[in-house]
Amino acid sequence: MAEVDHMVAKWITSNMIYIILLFAVLWLLKTKFKDLRQRWFAFFLHQVTKKPSAKLEEVKKDIFASLGSIVSHDPELRKNKAIKILEIGVGTGVNFAHYPDGSDLVAVDPNPHFSKYYNDNRKKFPNIHSCEVINSTGEEMDMIPDNSIDAVVMTLVMCSAGDNKKMLQQILRVLVPGGKFYFMEHIREFDPEKHGLKQKLQDFLSVTGIWPFLFDGCYLNRDMLSLIEGTGFSKVTAERFYAPVPYAFLKVIEPHLKGIAEK
Ligand SMILES: C[S@@+](CC[C@H](N)C(=O)[O-])C[C@H]1O[C@@H](n2cnc3c(N)ncnc32)[C@H](O)[C@@H]1O
Repeated sequence: MAEVDHMVAKWITSNMIYIILLFAVLWLLKTKFKDLRQRWFAFFLHQVTKKPSAKLEEVKKDIFASLGSIVSHDPELRKNKAIKILEIGVGTGVNFAHYPDGSDLVAVDPNPHFSKYYNDNRKKFPNIHSCEVINSTGEEMDMIPDNSIDAVVMTLVMCSAGDNKKMLQQILRVLVPGGKFYFMEHIREFDPEKHGLKQKLQDFLSVTGIWPFLFDGCYLNRDMLSLIEGTGFSKVTAERFYAPVPYAFLKVIEPHLKGIAEK
C-alpha cells in the first residue's frame, strides 16, 4: 500500500505542471465560455432525450398520475377540467406527454439555447397551452404571482441549481394552498454498502469539477430530500430508487429521488 502511495505521489509530482495547466484551462473555459457550454449542453440534452426511453416514461407516468385529478383554483380552467402548471428547468420539454389535456403551462429555464428544441417540441402537443420559455432561474421567479399555480413540476434540475433552498421557497410561494410540487432528481448513491465505488466516483467527478464542467454545472453528489422536507410543505411523499438510464455512461446518475410535496 505504501508503495502504491509512493508511486501516486511520484506521478503527481512529476506531472504537476500538466495538472496545473489542465485546471487552469478548465477554469478559463468555465468562467469565460459560459455561452458555449450552455449551447453544448442544450444540444447534448436534445440528443439524449429526443427519443424518450420507454422505461423512464413508465416511471414518469407513475409520478405524474395524480396530475389528472387536480381541480384548478382558476374558475376558467376548472370549467374545462384543466390546470395551471409551472415547469422549472424545462430544458427541451420532455414532460409534455404527461400533462393533462388543456393544461396551461408556464415554463422557466435560464439557458436560452433550449428555446428552439422546446419550441419544436411544444408544437407536437397542441393539447397543451404552452407559452415561450421565461428566461430565468427557479430562484428568481418574481414574475410569477403568489398562490397562482396548481402544480409545479421539476425534473433533474436541483443537481445544477445555485440555491435550491431559495428555489424551493419560490415553489412554495407560487403554489396555491393545497397545490402540488412534483419532483424527480438524480442524487448521490444512497446504498454505499452495495455501490460504494459508484458513490466515490460521483464524489470524485463532482469535487474535481469535471462533471459540472461537462454538463452545465450538474453535481452528482447531492441529495435534496431533507431540503424539500425542511421547506414548509404540509406533506412530502418521496422515494429513492434507481432510474432506468438509456446509456452506460449515465450509470452514475442512476440513483434518483422522486415524490410529491403538497402546500
Ligand atoms: C439536466 S437538465 C433537465 C431538463 C429537463 N427538466 C429534463 O428533465 O430533461 C437541467 C435543466 O435545469 C436548468 N437549470 C439549471 N439551473 C437552473 C435554475 N437555477 N433554475 C431553473 N432551471 C435551471 C438547465 O438550464 C436545464 O434545462
